[in-house]
Amino acid sequence: MIIDMAKKPIKITETILRDAHQSLIATRMSTEQMLPIVEKLDQVGYYSLECWGGATFDASLRFLKEDPWERLRQIKARVKNTKLQMLFRGQNILGYRPYGDDVVEYFVQKSIANGIDIIRIFDCLNDLRNLETAVNASNKEGGHAQIALSYTLGDAYTLEYWTNIAKEIENMGAQSICIKDMAGLLLPYEATRLVTALKETVRIPIQLHTHYTSGVASMTYLKAVEAGVDVIDCAMSPFALGTSQPATEVMVETFKGTPYDTGFDQNLLAEIADYFRPIRDEALDSGLLNPKNLGVNIKTLLYQVPGGMLSNLTSQLKEQHAEDKYYEVLEEVPRVRQDLGECPLVTPSSQIVGTQAVFNVLMGERYKMVTKETKAVLSGHYGRTVKPFNPEVQKKCIGDEEIITCRPADLVGNELSTLEAEMAQYKEQDEDVLSYALFPQVAMDFFKYREAQKTKVDATVADTENGAYPV
Ligand code: CO
Repeated sequence: MIIDMAKKPIKITETILRDAHQSLIATRMSTEQMLPIVEKLDQVGYYSLECWGGATFDASLRFLKEDPWERLRQIKARVKNTKLQMLFRGQNILGYRPYGDDVVEYFVQKSIANGIDIIRIFDCLNDLRNLETAVNASNKEGGHAQIALSYTLGDAYTLEYWTNIAKEIENMGAQSICIKDMAGLLLPYEATRLVTALKETVRIPIQLHTHYTSGVASMTYLKAVEAGVDVIDCAMSPFALGTSQPATEVMVETFKGTPYDTGFDQNLLAEIADYFRPIRDEALDSGLLNPKNLGVNIKTLLYQVPGGMLSNLTSQLKEQHAEDKYYEVLEEVPRVRQDLGECPLVTPSSQIVGTQAVFNVLMGERYKMVTKETKAVLSGHYGRTVKPFNPEVQKKCIGDEEIITCRPADLVGNELSTLEAEMAQYKEQDEDVLSYALFPQVAMDFFKYREAQKTKVDATVADTENGAYPV
């Protein structure tokens, strides 16, 4: 192979503060664990630092009892040179339903105001109509809107499909494209074909995001970089591999002395790895990091199911005492996916297809029991799928219910003022209404907790002033 010797250093997005711990330790890395190292991360020379969005928002409020907005501000205060990046689920923002445009716009505005530079926006059906509002809002606020294509396999997903959609993305005003391979399905030589075709089609930069789940990820990066991809997503070694990304240090070393040389300082990377290693060890000891998630899961290639979805299925079946049905469910997943228009499997479609597959197997009859989300997909409420729905399944699940073909958010309408009114008494900052919009119950619990903490602090101060505590 002839490598163009003109220098083209590969850019790297570091995922340790977002996807890496979301993929390996259920998004439990706390702000306190992150802050001591972010200045060092800022010195590396990364293209961007993915640190927000995805499940981090929900997990902060729900499990860590932290304000996700405060985390973002704290990181921003320490990061001077590197762009901060977040993951955004199109019209679903970081939640699980389509929101009104005013909520999407306000969320984008506040994310950028609090420190986000690059917003990676995706839709689980690759229905670009679900991305328009977020892209326009990001452009208006001066952010970098990156559209991520949810990568998947299937008859409909030809090179022509990907290049056509890439052209549309460029025309929509997105500033870059990400191939988002959440399941690690993109094989090395396929990456050559896909990246080459995309580079021939669009002028905006192409970024590649994959997971190590199936074991091919670093080879895929190598081939993608040779084919001209602009940015790759990596994670520092203590939280790399398995269901996470390829290791940063390994990719940096791989390209050393080639036209793609990053020029990163391995000693600095080693210091950063030394910082994260005890956090990894602690997670291994507590069981939060399951060694099973660190190996190669070849089933992900066989069943084309993301790693996270496999572990969800296992726990759903365990709850039902039906672990023996695991393989039956795995075989049902692609059938349900076909019925639902051959959609990619990524949040929330992965959960919808997975749960429906479990029901179909456990009930002994397909679609005897149908989730409300499956019905919503089949009636068009998540958007347009690449292939038509299975008409028999559609009939059985939703009967004569009306099917919508418009952009789903058109039916939602503006909702900010209603949401504001519902949570007004707990509001301490503008951003609180957005936390509430996304996770009403969880945010409300957090607001109450926050208030209780404050009363506790006040009481302590008061008592100290009264001389009740020895100093
Ligand atoms: Co990911």
